Amino acid sequence: MEEAKLAHVLVVAFPSQGHVNPVLRLAKRLASKGLLVTFSSTEEAGLMMRKATDNKASTSIPIGKGKMRFEFFSDDHDLNDPNHTDLDALMERLEKNGPKAMADLIDRQAKEGRPVSCVITNPFLPWALDVATDAGIQAGLLWVQSCAVFTAYYHYCNDPTIKYPATLESEISVELPGMPVLAPADIPSFMLETNPYKSLTDVIVNQFKNIKKASWVLVESFMELERPIIEALEGKASLLPIGPLLKSLQDVESNTIRGDLWKSADCIEWLDSHEPGSVVYVSLGSVVVLDKEQLEEMAWGIKNSGRKFLWVVRPAPNENETGLPEWFLKETAERGMVVPWCPQDEVLLHPSVACFFTHCGWNSSMESLCSGVPVVGFPQWGDQVTNAKFLADVFGVGVRVKADRGSLASREEVERCISEVVGGPRAEEMKKMAMKWKEAAAEAVSVGGSSDRNIQAVVDDVKQKAA
Ligand code: UDX
Repeated sequence: MEEAKLAHVLVVAFPSQGHVNPVLRLAKRLASKGLLVTFSSTEEAGLMMRKATDNKASTSIPIGKGKMRFEFFSDDHDLNDPNHTDLDALMERLEKNGPKAMADLIDRQAKEGRPVSCVITNPFLPWALDVATDAGIQAGLLWVQSCAVFTAYYHYCNDPTIKYPATLESEISVELPGMPVLAPADIPSFMLETNPYKSLTDVIVNQFKNIKKASWVLVESFMELERPIIEALEGKASLLPIGPLLKSLQDVESNTIRGDLWKSADCIEWLDSHEPGSVVYVSLGSVVVLDKEQLEEMAWGIKNSGRKFLWVVRPAPNENETGLPEWFLKETAERGMVVPWCPQDEVLLHPSVACFFTHCGWNSSMESLCSGVPVVGFPQWGDQVTNAKFLADVFGVGVRVKADRGSLASREEVERCISEVVGGPRAEEMKKMAMKWKEAAAEAVSVGGSSDRNIQAVVDDVKQKAA
């Protein structure tokens, strides 16, 4: 269909990998259902995406019954500034320059004959919701974390009757509707007074200030996974689960459009050369950087496990080295591969992968669940700790490394957890649960499944309002 005849949705992603991926996946899903979708983020994110992938991040690409295109906006910053990765500075720049840049972008679409009829944004960019509604355009949110984490933040921001612990040592546990009791170590760390990332606490609180302006709060989750939590929120916030969004990558066209911010190493051939269920995949996402001491303990634990491994190690911002000890690289070269980035979605679906040693970012958690891969959870901060609690104790797909936040996880503990998930007495049960979630996830996104129905309702609403 001609571009100008399709209802046009603008999706806006916060410029970090954990946000770009789910927003881009949503964009592809919406396009496949017959919408024109423009994916947008900062120019820096656009540059990184184009450099890292072969996607045609500047052209109009047909997907299913619709089309996708890209527009990046300037947040007016200097890439050569050594502080350009600083989160506080980024938030400030986005707030200062984002609203005008976004309003201009929306105006330009109308002038070029494809007026925007809906904006779907990331809650980390609350001003995008204001820009859309001020322009009289329907707007929605994509919550990129779990419904459990939404509940924890929602009550923290809106319900003074619930007392949250101030520190990890506190005796206070939190009981929230539809959730298991959360100990201080299970509560998103940005809510503790001891949290060192104060600006992130503000970002979390700001997400709820204008949330009522959103026509829908879409969530990267699925009903069968978090039903009691979603039901308990009814009347307070209406969440519309539409995930796992990764599962929408079923056709070749959309598979070629990727949101990686760094170039992936070739590791699939290496995985092909190994037996089914023999490799431990290790990755702590796009932001976590371990200190030298913890990295060394992890290296020992992985070496002593005796297992084959694929380990993604991100260098710290503005550094080139991974910080992995030389001895480790030498002694494990025969049975391991260390890479700076990989196509994680493909890796998790590879038959040789036995388990995922993960920091439990929500994307990694969902990708693991919908690939049927059990996990060793090694959360560091934020929502990761709550996700780890759910993966181990509620979804039943793994174990959590014992290390109080901020303290060291020993090499023995790292080794013990890998052995437990790969070959321990409960390994089979964890694999069975992971496969159960994989099937449930596939069902949720299949035609007529719970997530598919929800996304179809959004698409129908957008089309009707644009007609
Ligand atoms: C951040 C937060 O840390 C996380 O807790 C929050 O839920 C989202 O924002 P991040 O730490 O990057 O995200 O973790 P995660 O949510 O797991 O997202 C990482 C994404 O990068 C995943 O989609 C994963 O598939 C992808 N990835 C990671 C790769 O494609 N290749 C890699 O080598 C590593």
